[in-house]
Amino acid sequence: LLSKMRRSCALLVLLFAAGCSLCAADVGDFTPCLQFFYRSWPPKGLAGTPICQHFNNSYHFATLYSRPRRTPWFSAYLYTVPAGKRPSASWKYEPQLAYPQADGTMKPFPRPPLDQNIVESQAVEHDYINSTYSRGHLNPSLHHKSHDTRDATFTLTNVVPQKTGSNDGPWEFLEQSVNHTLATYCLKEAYVVTGIIPYQSDDHWLNNHRVAVPEYLWSAYCCPKYNQSLPKELENTFPTYAAIGRNDPNSSEEIVPVNKTAKKQFRGYDVRKMSLQTLEMYLKDRLSTVISVFNEQCSGSD
Ligand SMILES: *[C@@H]1O[C@H](CO)[C@@H](O)[C@H](O)[C@H]1NC(C)=O
Ligand SMILES: *[C@@H]1O[C@H](CO)[C@@H](O)[C@H](O)[C@H]1NC(C)=O
Ligand SMILES: *[C@@H]1O[C@H](CO)[C@@H](O)[C@H](O)[C@H]1NC(C)=O
Ligand SMILES: *[C@@H]1O[C@H](CO)[C@@H](O)[C@H](O)[C@H]1NC(C)=O
Ligand SMILES: *[C@@H]1O[C@H](CO)[C@@H](O)[C@H](O)[C@H]1NC(C)=O
Ligand SMILES: *[C@@H]1O[C@H](CO)[C@@H](O)[C@H](O)[C@H]1NC(C)=O
Repeated sequence: LLSKMRRSCALLVLLFAAGCSLCAADVGDFTPCLQFFYRSWPPKGLAGTPICQHFNNSYHFATLYSRPRRTPWFSAYLYTVPAGKRPSASWKYEPQLAYPQADGTMKPFPRPPLDQNIVESQAVEHDYINSTYSRGHLNPSLHHKSHDTRDATFTLTNVVPQKTGSNDGPWEFLEQSVNHTLATYCLKEAYVVTGIIPYQSDDHWLNNHRVAVPEYLWSAYCCPKYNQSLPKELENTFPTYAAIGRNDPNSSEEIVPVNKTAKKQFRGYDVRKMSLQTLEMYLKDRLSTVISVFNEQCSGSD
């Protein structure tokens, strides 16, 4: 963890010639929220600012945040069978990204004009308004039972610019199918990690290079204790399974092929389900480093 913090500090120094005042601030740490990771083991291979998502006196999930992109690398959470309606969105920000001394509890955006340190340190609602992208939750509200946890997913540090064709189409269908599969066949904890793959070129941003658009979203779950009498179509989907979804119809088709006969509004936003190994192969290929999503690829016996 220390070396990870040092690495992200080095990056910050490179990015902000302003010196190390921000560095000192960047001491986020997953220690208080390791319960959201299988075997308390956060994914390895990605560097960023850890955020333990704190709301209404408790921790609800964990996010690795990229300050330069002003979007998350991934959010990690425990799935619980949902009940009730999606809360009405009250979008929140993280004071501790703007002020190192602030307590790390997310807060609803105040009325404009916003404090400049908040605007500099993270994405704000204005970045998304009038863009051609919707606010795509990595940790979706519908994977949670408690009202509080659902509400806590409405922080912009858990959100990436996502095309509506994906967000209201194949990606939402994936979230529903994971919901159904885990609700029906997972007998105990289900750990989920959902993240992004950046473009290889550097030219997809919202609002004057403020907020980076991802080319793909990915997701993987780990459910160590599951019902062994699985239907045939789910045979290879436990204890772990994964998927990658397109966020751009113009992307090439090597990772996720396009279904040419899909409904027009969803065409080019396909999701491909795959094993965890296959997902990690693509992550390695695209991020040029080994990424491990779950400890021992979720193969442990606990
Ligand atoms: C969004 O666009 C509308 C119509 O062009 C404009 O009235 C409004 O001020 C814009 N909002 C923001 C936040 O830029
Ligand atoms: C905050 O938590 C308390 C205790 O768990 C709960 O009763 C209350 O409804 C929560 N408040 C909000 C705004 O979710
Ligand atoms: C999630 O799964 C539960 C249990 O099967 C079901 O009751 C609920 O309607 C599902 N929610 C969504 C949004 O699909
Ligand atoms: C496992 O699934 C089978 C078939 O769907 C069902 O009959 C059984 O009750 C399930 N067992 C548990 C422990 O949920
Ligand atoms: C796809 O490419 C076309 C033509 O170059 C362009 O007009 C369009 O904006 C692109 N779509 C996305 C989502 O980038
Ligand atoms: C392609 O989309 C059509 C229309 O939604 C669907 O019926 C078909 O099963 C899809 N094909 C594949 C290979 O997913």
